[in-house]
Amino acid sequence: MIDKINRIKEEAGRFKAATQAELEEFRLKYLSKKGQLNALFDEFKTVAAEQKREAGQKLNELKNLLNETFERCRATLDGETTSEQDNDLTRPGESIPTGSRHPISITRNEICGIFSRLGFTIAEGPEIEDDWHVFSALNFPKDHPARDMQDTFFVTKDPDVVLRTHTSSVQVRVMETTRPPIRMIMPGRVFRNEAVSARAHCIFHQVEGLYVAENVSFADMKQTLMFFTKEMFGEKSQIRLRPSFFPFTEPSAEMDVSCTCGGKGCSLCKGTGWLEIMGCGMVDPNVLDNCGINSKKYSGYAFGMGIERIAFLKFQIKDIRMYFENDVRFLKQFAAAL
Ligand code: DAH
Repeated sequence: MIDKINRIKEEAGRFKAATQAELEEFRLKYLSKKGQLNALFDEFKTVAAEQKREAGQKLNELKNLLNETFERCRATLDGETTSEQDNDLTRPGESIPTGSRHPISITRNEICGIFSRLGFTIAEGPEIEDDWHVFSALNFPKDHPARDMQDTFFVTKDPDVVLRTHTSSVQVRVMETTRPPIRMIMPGRVFRNEAVSARAHCIFHQVEGLYVAENVSFADMKQTLMFFTKEMFGEKSQIRLRPSFFPFTEPSAEMDVSCTCGGKGCSLCKGTGWLEIMGCGMVDPNVLDNCGINSKKYSGYAFGMGIERIAFLKFQIKDIRMYFENDVRFLKQFAAAL
Protein backbone atom coordinates (compact mmCIF):
# COMPACT_ATOMS: atom_id res chain seq x y z
CA MET A 1 0.00 0.00 0.00
CA ILE A 2 2.82 2.35 0.84
CA ASP A 3 4.28 1.81 -2.61
CA LYS A 4 0.97 2.72 -4.15
CA ILE A 5 0.78 5.89 -2.08
CA ASN A 6 4.30 6.90 -3.12
CA ARG A 7 3.53 6.32 -6.78
CA ILE A 8 0.40 8.47 -6.71
CA LYS A 9 2.27 11.13 -4.77
CA GLU A 10 4.90 11.34 -7.47
CA GLU A 11 2.33 11.48 -10.27
CA ALA A 12 0.21 14.11 -8.58
CA GLY A 13 3.29 16.15 -7.61
CA ARG A 14 4.09 16.68 -11.29
CA PHE A 15 0.52 17.48 -12.26
CA LYS A 16 -0.32 20.80 -13.95
CA ALA A 17 -3.72 21.59 -15.46
CA ALA A 18 -3.72 23.46 -18.75
CA THR A 19 -7.51 23.32 -19.11
CA GLN A 20 -10.59 22.91 -16.91
CA ALA A 21 -11.09 19.49 -18.52
CA GLU A 22 -7.70 18.26 -17.36
CA LEU A 23 -8.43 19.51 -13.88
CA GLU A 24 -11.75 17.67 -13.85
CA GLU A 25 -9.98 14.52 -14.99
CA PHE A 26 -7.59 14.91 -12.02
CA ARG A 27 -10.50 15.33 -9.64
CA LEU A 28 -12.30 12.24 -10.94
CA LYS A 29 -9.16 10.15 -10.92
CA TYR A 30 -8.03 10.97 -7.39
CA LEU A 31 -10.55 12.91 -5.37
CA SER A 32 -14.04 11.79 -6.37
CA LYS A 33 -16.07 9.22 -4.48
CA LYS A 34 -14.83 6.47 -6.76
CA GLY A 35 -11.36 7.93 -7.04
CA GLN A 36 -8.04 6.46 -5.94
CA LEU A 37 -7.88 8.29 -2.62
CA ASN A 38 -11.13 6.82 -1.38
CA ALA A 39 -10.03 3.40 -2.60
CA LEU A 40 -6.88 3.73 -0.52
CA PHE A 41 -8.90 4.68 2.56
CA ASP A 42 -10.95 1.51 2.04
CA GLU A 43 -7.78 -0.53 1.70
CA PHE A 44 -6.42 1.12 4.88
CA LYS A 45 -9.04 -0.74 6.93
CA THR A 46 -7.40 -4.03 5.98
CA VAL A 47 -3.83 -2.99 6.82
CA ALA A 48 -2.19 -5.00 9.57
CA ALA A 49 -2.20 -3.30 12.96
CA GLU A 50 1.60 -2.82 13.17
CA GLN A 51 1.65 -0.99 9.79
CA LYS A 52 -1.38 1.20 10.49
CA ARG A 53 0.62 4.07 11.98
CA GLU A 54 2.96 4.56 9.08
CA ALA A 55 0.33 3.91 6.41
CA GLY A 56 -2.13 6.30 8.09
CA GLN A 57 0.41 9.10 8.19
CA LYS A 58 1.37 8.63 4.54
CA LEU A 59 -2.25 8.46 3.50
CA ASN A 60 -3.02 11.75 5.22
CA GLU A 61 -0.02 13.38 3.54
CA LEU A 62 -1.28 12.18 0.18
CA LYS A 63 -4.76 13.49 0.88
CA ASN A 64 -3.34 16.96 1.68
CA LEU A 65 -1.12 16.96 -1.38
CA LEU A 66 -3.99 16.03 -3.71
CA ASN A 67 -6.28 18.67 -2.24
CA GLU A 68 -3.59 21.39 -2.41
CA THR A 69 -2.68 20.47 -5.99
CA PHE A 70 -6.32 20.64 -7.01
CA GLU A 71 -6.86 24.03 -5.31
CA ARG A 72 -3.68 25.52 -6.75
CA CYS A 73 -4.51 24.45 -10.32
CA ARG A 74 -8.07 25.70 -9.96
CA ALA A 75 -6.86 29.12 -8.73
CA THR A 76 -4.38 29.41 -11.61
CA LEU A 77 -7.04 28.57 -14.18
CA ASP A 78 -9.42 31.10 -12.56
CA GLY A 79 -6.71 33.73 -12.81
CA GLU A 80 -6.26 34.09 -9.06
CA THR A 81 -2.78 34.73 -7.76
CA THR A 82 -1.19 31.91 -5.89
CA SER A 83 1.29 32.31 -3.12
CA GLU A 84 3.98 31.28 -5.58
CA GLN A 85 3.07 34.22 -7.82
CA ASP A 86 2.92 36.56 -4.84
CA ASN A 87 6.53 35.76 -4.19
CA ASP A 88 7.60 36.59 -7.74
CA LEU A 89 9.54 39.81 -7.25
CA THR A 90 9.96 40.32 -10.99
CA ARG A 91 6.21 40.88 -11.54
CA PRO A 92 5.40 44.50 -12.53
CA GLY A 93 4.13 46.46 -9.55
CA GLU A 94 0.82 48.23 -9.21
CA SER A 95 1.36 51.94 -9.77
CA ILE A 96 0.36 54.36 -7.02
CA PRO A 97 -0.50 57.82 -8.35
CA THR A 98 1.84 60.37 -6.80
CA GLY A 99 0.65 63.77 -5.64
CA SER A 100 2.50 67.04 -6.07
CA ARG A 101 3.78 69.67 -3.69
CA HIS A 102 1.55 72.53 -2.66
CA PRO A 103 2.52 75.86 -4.34
CA ILE A 104 3.10 77.36 -0.86
CA SER A 105 5.58 74.58 -0.02
CA ILE A 106 7.32 74.94 -3.39
CA THR A 107 7.71 78.70 -2.87
CA ARG A 108 8.80 78.35 0.78
CA ASN A 109 11.43 75.77 -0.18
CA GLU A 110 12.75 78.03 -2.91
CA ILE A 111 12.98 81.05 -0.58
CA CYS A 112 14.73 78.96 2.09
CA GLY A 113 17.06 77.51 -0.56
CA ILE A 114 18.20 80.97 -1.75
CA PHE A 115 18.95 82.20 1.78
CA SER A 116 20.61 78.90 2.72
CA ARG A 117 23.08 79.50 -0.08
CA LEU A 118 23.91 82.84 1.56
CA GLY A 119 24.66 81.08 4.85
CA PHE A 120 21.32 81.60 6.61
CA THR A 121 20.08 78.71 8.76
CA ILE A 122 16.44 77.86 9.37
CA ALA A 123 14.59 78.27 12.68
CA GLU A 124 10.99 77.66 13.66
CA GLY A 125 8.84 78.78 16.58
CA PRO A 126 5.41 78.05 18.08
CA GLU A 127 2.16 79.16 16.43
CA ILE A 128 0.52 79.78 19.81
CA GLU A 129 2.52 82.56 21.44
CA ASP A 130 2.55 84.86 24.45
CA ASP A 131 2.24 88.62 24.35
CA TRP A 132 5.95 89.12 24.99
CA HIS A 133 7.20 87.34 21.87
CA VAL A 134 4.53 88.65 19.46
CA PHE A 135 4.24 92.24 20.71
CA SER A 136 6.05 93.49 23.82
CA ALA A 137 9.62 92.44 23.00
CA LEU A 138 9.08 93.83 19.48
CA ASN A 139 8.39 97.32 20.80
CA PHE A 140 4.64 97.39 20.12
CA PRO A 141 3.03 100.12 22.24
CA LYS A 142 0.26 99.01 24.66
CA ASP A 143 -2.48 100.59 22.52
CA HIS A 144 -1.31 99.28 19.12
CA PRO A 145 -4.28 98.04 17.01
CA ALA A 146 -2.61 94.63 16.47
CA ARG A 147 -3.16 94.01 20.19
CA ASP A 148 -6.89 94.39 19.67
CA MET A 149 -9.24 91.39 19.46
CA GLN A 150 -10.43 92.77 16.10
CA ASP A 151 -7.04 92.03 14.54
CA THR A 152 -5.62 89.16 16.56
CA PHE A 153 -6.99 85.77 17.59
CA PHE A 154 -6.71 85.46 21.36
CA VAL A 155 -6.49 82.04 22.98
CA THR A 156 -6.71 83.55 26.49
CA LYS A 157 -6.84 87.10 27.83
CA ASP A 158 -4.82 87.87 30.95
CA PRO A 159 -2.34 86.38 30.53
CA ASP A 160 -2.52 87.19 26.84
CA VAL A 161 -1.96 84.09 24.71
CA VAL A 162 -2.50 84.59 20.97
CA LEU A 163 -2.14 82.89 17.61
CA ARG A 164 0.98 84.63 16.26
CA THR A 165 0.13 87.41 13.80
CA HIS A 166 3.58 87.34 12.22
CA THR A 167 6.77 85.28 12.25
CA SER A 168 8.67 88.20 13.83
CA SER A 169 7.99 86.42 17.16
CA VAL A 170 10.55 83.81 16.11
CA GLN A 171 13.18 86.59 15.80
CA VAL A 172 12.71 87.25 19.51
CA ARG A 173 13.02 83.56 20.41
CA VAL A 174 16.18 83.27 18.30
CA MET A 175 17.80 86.41 19.79
CA GLU A 176 16.96 85.30 23.34
CA THR A 177 18.76 82.00 22.87
CA THR A 178 21.52 82.67 20.30
CA ARG A 179 24.49 85.04 20.49
CA PRO A 180 25.55 87.08 17.41
CA PRO A 181 26.54 86.65 14.69
CA ILE A 182 23.01 85.48 13.81
CA ARG A 183 21.94 84.69 10.26
CA MET A 184 18.56 82.98 10.22
CA ILE A 185 15.38 82.61 8.26
CA MET A 186 12.14 81.56 9.90
CA PRO A 187 9.28 80.21 7.78
CA GLY A 188 5.86 79.60 9.32
CA ARG A 189 2.10 79.93 9.45
CA VAL A 190 0.49 83.07 10.87
CA PHE A 191 -3.08 84.06 11.80
CA ARG A 192 -5.06 87.30 11.63
CA ASN A 193 -8.69 88.05 12.25
CA GLU A 194 -9.39 89.17 8.66
CA ALA A 195 -12.50 88.81 6.53
CA VAL A 196 -11.65 86.21 3.89
CA SER A 197 -11.52 87.60 0.33
CA ALA A 198 -9.53 87.09 -2.89
CA ARG A 199 -6.60 89.07 -1.39
CA ALA A 200 -6.80 88.28 2.34
CA HIS A 201 -7.13 85.19 4.49
CA CYS A 202 -7.18 84.56 8.22
CA ILE A 203 -4.38 81.99 7.80
CA PHE A 204 -1.31 82.67 5.70
CA HIS A 205 2.45 82.07 5.63
CA GLN A 206 5.51 84.23 6.09
CA VAL A 207 9.26 83.90 5.94
CA GLU A 208 11.14 86.07 8.40
CA GLY A 209 14.82 86.92 8.06
CA LEU A 210 17.28 88.18 10.67
CA TYR A 211 20.93 89.18 10.47
CA VAL A 212 22.67 90.46 13.62
CA ALA A 213 26.42 91.08 13.85
CA GLU A 214 28.88 93.95 14.33
CA ASN A 215 28.68 96.86 11.87
CA VAL A 216 25.71 95.62 9.88
CA SER A 217 24.38 98.38 7.62
CA PHE A 218 21.28 99.19 5.59
CA ALA A 219 23.41 98.67 2.46
CA ASP A 220 24.07 95.05 3.55
CA MET A 221 20.33 94.51 3.77
CA LYS A 222 19.65 96.08 0.39
CA GLN A 223 22.31 93.96 -1.30
CA THR A 224 21.00 90.74 0.25
CA LEU A 225 17.41 91.50 -0.72
CA MET A 226 18.46 92.41 -4.26
CA PHE A 227 20.30 89.10 -4.58
CA PHE A 228 17.23 87.27 -3.27
CA THR A 229 14.92 89.04 -5.75
CA LYS A 230 17.07 88.25 -8.77
CA GLU A 231 17.36 84.60 -7.73
CA MET A 232 13.62 84.35 -7.17
CA PHE A 233 12.23 86.40 -10.07
CA GLY A 234 15.07 86.51 -12.58
CA GLU A 235 18.12 88.62 -13.40
CA LYS A 236 16.07 91.44 -14.94
CA SER A 237 13.92 92.14 -11.89
CA GLN A 238 14.43 95.35 -9.90
CA ILE A 239 13.72 96.33 -6.32
CA ARG A 240 12.46 99.55 -4.79
CA LEU A 241 12.55 100.45 -1.08
CA ARG A 242 9.88 102.83 0.25
CA PRO A 243 10.08 104.38 3.73
CA SER A 244 7.59 102.79 6.12
CA PHE A 245 7.03 102.12 9.79
CA PHE A 246 7.22 99.01 11.97
CA PRO A 247 7.61 99.22 15.77
CA PHE A 248 10.57 96.80 15.73
CA THR A 249 12.73 98.37 12.99
CA GLU A 250 14.27 101.82 12.62
CA PRO A 251 14.51 102.89 9.87
CA SER A 252 11.81 100.72 8.25
CA ALA A 253 10.97 100.15 4.62
CA GLU A 254 8.63 98.27 2.36
CA MET A 255 10.19 96.51 -0.59
CA ASP A 256 8.58 96.35 -4.03
CA VAL A 257 9.67 94.14 -6.90
CA SER A 258 9.24 95.15 -10.54
CA CYS A 259 6.23 93.52 -12.20
CA THR A 260 6.72 91.24 -15.19
CA CYS A 261 4.26 93.39 -17.20
CA GLY A 262 6.93 96.12 -17.20
CA GLY A 263 4.45 98.71 -15.92
CA LYS A 264 2.21 98.40 -18.96
CA GLY A 265 -0.63 97.65 -16.65
CA CYS A 266 -1.78 94.27 -15.39
CA SER A 267 -4.29 93.21 -12.76
CA LEU A 268 -1.53 92.19 -10.31
CA CYS A 269 0.34 95.53 -10.15
CA LYS A 270 -2.66 97.62 -11.25
CA GLY A 271 -0.54 99.48 -13.77
CA THR A 272 2.06 100.77 -11.30
CA GLY A 273 4.78 98.34 -12.46
CA TRP A 274 5.65 97.48 -8.84
CA LEU A 275 4.45 94.87 -6.36
CA GLU A 276 5.01 95.03 -2.62
CA ILE A 277 6.46 91.76 -1.32
CA MET A 278 7.98 92.46 2.08
CA GLY A 279 8.62 94.71 5.06
CA CYS A 280 12.17 95.24 6.28
CA GLY A 281 14.48 97.51 8.23
CA MET A 282 17.28 97.83 10.78
CA VAL A 283 16.43 96.04 14.03
CA ASP A 284 15.41 98.68 16.60
CA PRO A 285 18.02 98.91 19.40
CA ASN A 286 15.19 98.46 21.96
CA VAL A 287 14.42 95.05 20.45
CA LEU A 288 18.07 93.96 20.68
CA ASP A 289 18.21 95.08 24.33
CA ASN A 290 14.86 93.37 25.12
CA CYS A 291 16.42 90.11 23.92
CA GLY A 292 19.65 90.55 25.89
CA ILE A 293 21.85 91.61 22.95
CA ASN A 294 24.02 94.69 23.50
CA SER A 295 22.70 97.30 21.05
CA LYS A 296 25.87 99.41 21.49
CA LYS A 297 27.97 96.62 20.08
CA TYR A 298 25.66 94.90 17.60
CA SER A 299 23.31 96.00 14.85
CA GLY A 300 21.18 94.03 12.44
CA TYR A 301 18.53 93.97 9.79
CA ALA A 302 15.29 92.03 9.56
CA PHE A 303 12.69 91.36 6.93
CA GLY A 304 9.41 89.53 6.60
CA MET A 305 7.63 88.42 3.44
CA GLY A 306 4.29 86.77 2.70
CA ILE A 307 4.69 83.45 0.90
CA GLU A 308 1.20 83.63 -0.66
CA ARG A 309 2.05 86.96 -2.36
CA ILE A 310 5.30 85.64 -3.76
CA ALA A 311 3.53 82.53 -5.05
CA PHE A 312 0.92 84.85 -6.67
CA LEU A 313 3.71 86.37 -8.75
CA LYS A 314 5.51 83.15 -9.41
CA PHE A 315 2.49 81.16 -10.56
CA GLN A 316 0.09 83.94 -11.61
CA ILE A 317 -2.45 82.87 -9.01
CA LYS A 318 -5.27 85.38 -8.61
CA ASP A 319 -7.16 84.28 -5.49
CA ILE A 320 -5.64 83.47 -2.08
CA ARG A 321 -8.58 81.18 -1.20
CA MET A 322 -7.44 78.65 -3.78
CA TYR A 323 -4.44 77.78 -1.61
CA PHE A 324 -6.70 76.43 1.11
CA GLU A 325 -9.51 74.77 -0.84
CA ASN A 326 -7.59 71.53 -1.44
CA ASP A 327 -9.01 71.17 -4.94
CA VAL A 328 -6.83 68.64 -6.77
CA ARG A 329 -7.55 70.32 -10.12
CA PHE A 330 -5.70 73.36 -8.75
CA LEU A 331 -3.02 71.47 -6.82
CA LYS A 332 -1.92 69.14 -9.61
CA GLN A 333 -1.01 72.07 -11.86
CA PHE A 334 2.20 72.58 -9.88
CA ALA A 335 3.65 69.09 -10.33
CA ALA A 336 6.14 70.37 -12.91
CA ALA A 337 7.36 73.19 -10.63
CA LEU A 338 8.86 70.86 -8.01
N1 DAH B 1 6.04 91.42 10.75
C1 DAH B 1 5.68 92.29 9.65
C2 DAH B 1 4.28 91.97 9.19
O1 DAH B 1 3.79 90.92 9.45
C3 DAH B 1 6.63 92.14 8.49
C4 DAH B 1 8.02 92.63 8.80
C5 DAH B 1 8.33 93.93 8.57
C6 DAH B 1 8.93 91.77 9.33
C7 DAH B 1 9.60 94.43 8.85
C8 DAH B 1 10.23 92.24 9.60
C9 DAH B 1 10.53 93.57 9.35
O2 DAH B 1 11.18 91.46 10.10
O3 DAH B 1 11.79 94.01 9.61
O4 DAH B 1 3.66 92.78 8.56
